[in-house]
Amino acid sequence: MQSKQLRQGFLDFFAGQSHTIVPSAPLVPEKDPSLLFTNAGMVQFKNTFLGQEKRAYTRATSSQKCVRAGGKHNDLDNVGRTLRHHTFFEMLGNFSFGDYFKKEAIAYAWEYLLKNLGLDLSRMWFTVYKEDDEARELWKAVGAPPDRIVGLGEKDNFWSMGDEGPCGPCSEIIYDLGEHVGCGRPTCGLECDCDRFLEIWNLVFMQYERTKDGQMTKLPNPSIDTGMGLERICSVMQGKVSNYDTDLFIPLIRKLEDISGGVYGENPQSDIAFRVIADHVRGATFVINDGVLPSKDGRGYVLRRIMRRAIRFGKKLGIEKEFLGELSRLLVDMMEDVYPDVRNNYAYILKVLQGEEERFLETLTNGMRLYEEVRDGLRARGQRVIPGDVVYRLYDTFGFPVDITEDMAAEDSLVIDAEGFAKALEEQKERSRGDWKAKKEGWSRELTDAIPEGARNIFTGYEALESEATVVSAARDGAAAEELAAGEEGDLFFDVTPFYGEAGGQVCDEGLVESGDSRAVVTAVNRVRDDLWSHHVRVEKGSFREGQKARLVVDRERRKSIARNHSATHLLQYGLRKILGDHVKQSGSLVDPDHLRFDFSHFQALTPEEIIAVEDTANEKILAAIDVNTELKTKEEAIREGATALFEEKYGEAVRVVKMADFSAELCGGTHVQNTGEIGSLAIISEGSLAYGVRRIEAVTGKAAIRYRRKLEGMVKALAKELNTEIEKVPERVEAIMADLSMREKELQRVREGGVRQQVEAAIGRAREKDGAQIIFLYVDGAKADDLRKVTDLIRSKVKSCIAVAGTRDESKGLIVVSVAKELQDRFSAGKIVKGICERFGGKGGGNPNMAQGGVPGEKVEEALRSLEEIL
Ligand code: ALA
Repeated sequence: MQSKQLRQGFLDFFAGQSHTIVPSAPLVPEKDPSLLFTNAGMVQFKNTFLGQEKRAYTRATSSQKCVRAGGKHNDLDNVGRTLRHHTFFEMLGNFSFGDYFKKEAIAYAWEYLLKNLGLDLSRMWFTVYKEDDEARELWKAVGAPPDRIVGLGEKDNFWSMGDEGPCGPCSEIIYDLGEHVGCGRPTCGLECDCDRFLEIWNLVFMQYERTKDGQMTKLPNPSIDTGMGLERICSVMQGKVSNYDTDLFIPLIRKLEDISGGVYGENPQSDIAFRVIADHVRGATFVINDGVLPSKDGRGYVLRRIMRRAIRFGKKLGIEKEFLGELSRLLVDMMEDVYPDVRNNYAYILKVLQGEEERFLETLTNGMRLYEEVRDGLRARGQRVIPGDVVYRLYDTFGFPVDITEDMAAEDSLVIDAEGFAKALEEQKERSRGDWKAKKEGWSRELTDAIPEGARNIFTGYEALESEATVVSAARDGAAAEELAAGEEGDLFFDVTPFYGEAGGQVCDEGLVESGDSRAVVTAVNRVRDDLWSHHVRVEKGSFREGQKARLVVDRERRKSIARNHSATHLLQYGLRKILGDHVKQSGSLVDPDHLRFDFSHFQALTPEEIIAVEDTANEKILAAIDVNTELKTKEEAIREGATALFEEKYGEAVRVVKMADFSAELCGGTHVQNTGEIGSLAIISEGSLAYGVRRIEAVTGKAAIRYRRKLEGMVKALAKELNTEIEKVPERVEAIMADLSMREKELQRVREGGVRQQVEAAIGRAREKDGAQIIFLYVDGAKADDLRKVTDLIRSKVKSCIAVAGTRDESKGLIVVSVAKELQDRFSAGKIVKGICERFGGKGGGNPNMAQGGVPGEKVEEALRSLEEIL
């Protein structure tokens, strides 16, 4: 039975039991940035289990794409070493949301495996949670032999999605592949890690929700979540002991044999490489397909690790060229019926694969060399630990994810100093944090210490642009100061402030501090701590000191422009995702009063049509004058409701969600307009590549957008005037002028060539003979070196045995080209002739016997040409 039939057959079986077939969710969980990847069929139903989301059905079945390569369920280290673990796999499942429970779940599983697939009962085992007598009885009732029902502990028979979320006791169905597959240890049994006892299906009796503090609360309704590995049931049905011998993998392995020239199944070490590569190509292809790009952290780093690991194992198989793309193409052929989007995205997937492969291959060889040197050194000294700083160098300079170094070490029976590595990494982070802090804040640590303990400022700037406040402390040149007086610059801290301190890509506010007759201009606001910001000021009148009452006034116009641009970035993000697709993720932004910048993941340059479509999408929402609401929520709430958040970013417990109707919700601390209509309009002024796979858009809004359009308009008007036509006719006119110009250029060329031809004829007429050579020279007005060479070629084509010399000059320099007929070259050398002429007139020249050129002062060219005969 082929994988395709098996997958469909499973869904059909449960559809026949009133289950709704639900398509696979993307690998990047849509509403859960806390989860690396979708790692089970139940992920897309999490909120339904928790009773927070209602669906139109209470029974569902799916074949879900899963990745287990990080986080709680992580199989990465096992991949290749076992015959049954994968980074990417498909999970078949049936689900009940408060509908049926244990009894039916067990009965369905029994019927499907024994009646539908006809599995051999004598090979099957059933595990239950040790306290779950009910499940034990239910298995007996359907016909499982009592001695094949085994109670196990939490590790095997209590399933939870992660540290938080729905969970419950479970029951596993295990298939014995036979003693010959096992490790042979006397202890080998159901709980053994070897390949013999294959867990094919897990039935979870969802009953609880585990909260972050570890508390278990009962779910509103007991539910069912099951998961069967498609690859595993395939191997059983196809009579194999290894998932890698099924139709899901064999074509990939065969192809890899072709590429590498190796044979799978001959050598246990290279077999691991075959399996790792076949697995990782599947993982990488599907992860990229769902919008992840290789990067330094989070999901992108998992992707990078599996790609680089595959590349490294490729090297082990002796593959010297790039190969991931070729394998991925085959995989797409194999999977496109089930997942048509991998075909649609294929060009994109290929680009990402090739880009990463190219980059890693550049450093891989050098990194391996470093590793081998260190290894040989260790061996010679009888040591076994690769020092942390070496692991770090491999990581930092050569791009080796730590697990690759660990793999290599293990193959050489060495270990790595993981602690030393972690320390080196932390030191580096500390250094760059320090650099960054010092640069950004220009502050010394002492200063921060000089701020009174417990001082913090309350930010009133979301609602107010002016606030009454008290000076908490003052500083000058990074140290506490008694007072800042007129003419001085320094920093002030307040208990309350309406000034926004630079954060999240939004620049800080500017404005005034007033106190009686004293007055200071605020030129920058920095966040010294999360809850205390320094106001950099220039005192214009009077003075400021601790305890003084003051009025803080934000520059209103500037703030409004910033707000327009910030809200516009949210619209832009919405527009980009709508037009280009959900793989678009924000990777950075800058919002200031004059413009905005938005960086995002995408692989191609945007077409002019796409840019217009994005701009239109944003402008439609501006014209629709939609209220912008901000709400404070807990992080869980916000994310459950689908707010966009950056996976890597740390948010506090209470987060601020900026919402525009139902099309945009982002976790964001910035200041915004109250209604999108205030933005006026948005104009994209540039689009370009920022880094590999990252694009940058710059745009303007409000008055700046008007100014921008007006500037363009002014330019077109000026052009029209210059061209003496109407605006609408400018393109037509320009086209006509260009055509005319090109015609005239050709005409001119013809005339000049005609003139030069005549000059050449005349020069040939003046030819003089010397030692069997025809000496021909001429001066050409306004020529270039190239033209002169054409002239001497022409002469040589017309006159046998000639020495042809042509000269010209521009304002300052004279240029001379000499060309000598082949049959004369044993006696005359163009190089020597040009040297002779040029040096005599204070210039330089050179070339070969055939052709040479040189320069003389402009006014000497003609004299130099005339001296030719003498020189010869
Ligand atoms: N969610 C369960 C698992 O992943 C079925 O094993």
